[in-house]
Amino acid sequence: MVKSRLTAFAHSPIPDASRYMAAMTNTAIPASPDRETYARDYAAALAANGDETIFARAEPIGLFMEWLAEAKATEPNDPNAMALSTVDAAGAPDSRMVLLKDIDERGFTFFSNAESDKGVELAARPVAALLFHWKSLRRQVRVRGRVEPVTEAEADAYFATRARESRIGAWASDQSRPLADRETLEAAVARETERFDGRDVPRPARWTGWRVIPEAVEFWRDRPFRLHDRLRFDRVDGQWRRERLYP
Ligand SMILES: Cc1cc2nc3c(=O)[nH]c(=O)nc-3n(C[C@H](O)[C@H](O)[C@H](O)COP(=O)(O)O)c2cc1C
Repeated sequence: MVKSRLTAFAHSPIPDASRYMAAMTNTAIPASPDRETYARDYAAALAANGDETIFARAEPIGLFMEWLAEAKATEPNDPNAMALSTVDAAGAPDSRMVLLKDIDERGFTFFSNAESDKGVELAARPVAALLFHWKSLRRQVRVRGRVEPVTEAEADAYFATRARESRIGAWASDQSRPLADRETLEAAVARETERFDGRDVPRPARWTGWRVIPEAVEFWRDRPFRLHDRLRFDRVDGQWRRERLYP
């Protein structure tokens, strides 16, 4: 049997009650919202979350683009940040944030290092889940699907848009491998900077992109007192099927 790097799956102890109560009274964890909290902190976002016409949409990509544009106007940073979940060789889930760099009817594209953990996991199991959470809008979008590498031309085109320093960084970083100290990384950057002095920095072969081809896309938005809205699209025989879900 293939073993995961993780040992956490060996057993899952139930936390004892006193530790659970300590967490419940931890002041860093906000209390569940009451009427006053909704009126004070949620009003603006919830007012924008009442439009029932989303439940008549024929497909998800247009609505996703509208929500992303709204997030760009309201999020403090990285509205295109998404959690990317993959599975390792033992079937254990693995998540990390990446940036969405392209979206069209074909799917959701991101870029990374093919030799990183995510790259290795995607090569073995080309499936993924994406998760967007826009706190300012109190909205979430979930995406699940198959994953395909982008073409060399697409990877080249995106790599060319990165700052020279970021392109050099892609050569210098053995992403997800052990690193002794900061100096070692800086020495690698200095070495690559010198190597490319006076010439263009090409894309390293290991640095590429992937497209998640959506088979399911679910929109969630906050409504008062946890009676949230959920709208899921499933691709069935090449057509989008729409379904409203209980929160
Ligand atoms: C907001 C945010 C955006 C990120 N975007 C990317 C990205 O687009 N590509 C990438 O390789 N890593 C990105 N990272 C770093 C990854 O989360 C992760 O640390 C790295 O890719 C190694 O992951 P892995 O070891 O699972 O392969 C981002 C991190 C954050 C917090």
